[in-house]
Amino acid sequence: MLTLTLVCTVTFLLVCSGTFFPYSSNPANPKPKRVFLQHMTRTFHDLEGNIVKRDSGIWINGFDYTGMSHITPHVPEINDTIRAHCEENAPLCGFPWYLPVHFLIRKNWYLPAPEVSPRNPAYFRLISKEQTPWDSVRLTFEATGPSHMSFYVRPHKGSTLFQWSLGNGTPVTSKGGDYFVFYSHGLQASAWQFWIEVQVIEEQPEGMVTVAIAAHYLSGEDKRSSQLDTLKEKFPDWTFPSAWVCTYSLFVF
Ligand SMILES: *[C@@H]1O[C@H](CO)[C@@H](O)[C@H](O)[C@H]1NC(C)=O
Repeated sequence: MLTLTLVCTVTFLLVCSGTFFPYSSNPANPKPKRVFLQHMTRTFHDLEGNIVKRDSGIWINGFDYTGMSHITPHVPEINDTIRAHCEENAPLCGFPWYLPVHFLIRKNWYLPAPEVSPRNPAYFRLISKEQTPWDSVRLTFEATGPSHMSFYVRPHKGSTLFQWSLGNGTPVTSKGGDYFVFYSHGLQASAWQFWIEVQVIEEQPEGMVTVAIAAHYLSGEDKRSSQLDTLKEKFPDWTFPSAWVCTYSLFVF
């Protein structure tokens, strides 16, 4: 019993201390570390439509429990001084999540970088805002952009997302209470028009809903930036970095 406990404890400590390196680039038995690098520019608008914040950088996610601890020795600029901060008032912390896995990955990194400038910029606008006979507010939007976009919604306190023109019409929350929509289209698609309906139980000075849209440039020249290329070069061969350019815009209504 004592021996078993000892063996277990020693193994546990060795695993935790990183003595067993978990990754390998051996082609016969590859164990890559998967990393997402999203070079993005974010724009935050207030209720009046003014830009209240704009920033740019490379947002970094590692898809396992070791985070960046094995990467930092190879890429020293990715260290804990650049841990990303959650935007508390924005859905999914104000980042362009490609998948709604924000609750699984608590740590991410945001390395400052110049603005991105895709040749086909994404557009998002409110087409109409109508009061419905059943006492909700219908916001109709139009979005144009690259083949992959994600849309995020957070109703404010005192409001609920009642229905929308997406899926079967009944909104389903993502874990954490925000809404996540993934949209993808072919090459010659027309503008994406859709609506959401918000029921306001109690009006708030800060508006009824915050929405955001992310445009993911996953192919062609728009996918790349010189900063992404340079950063990717520094990653060791047992990693598999997926890198692309994004834009992110947030609006309050
Ligand atoms: C940590 O990262 C920052 C920002 O990327 C960089 O300026 C700094 O030199 C890094 N620290 C170390 C010890 O490499």
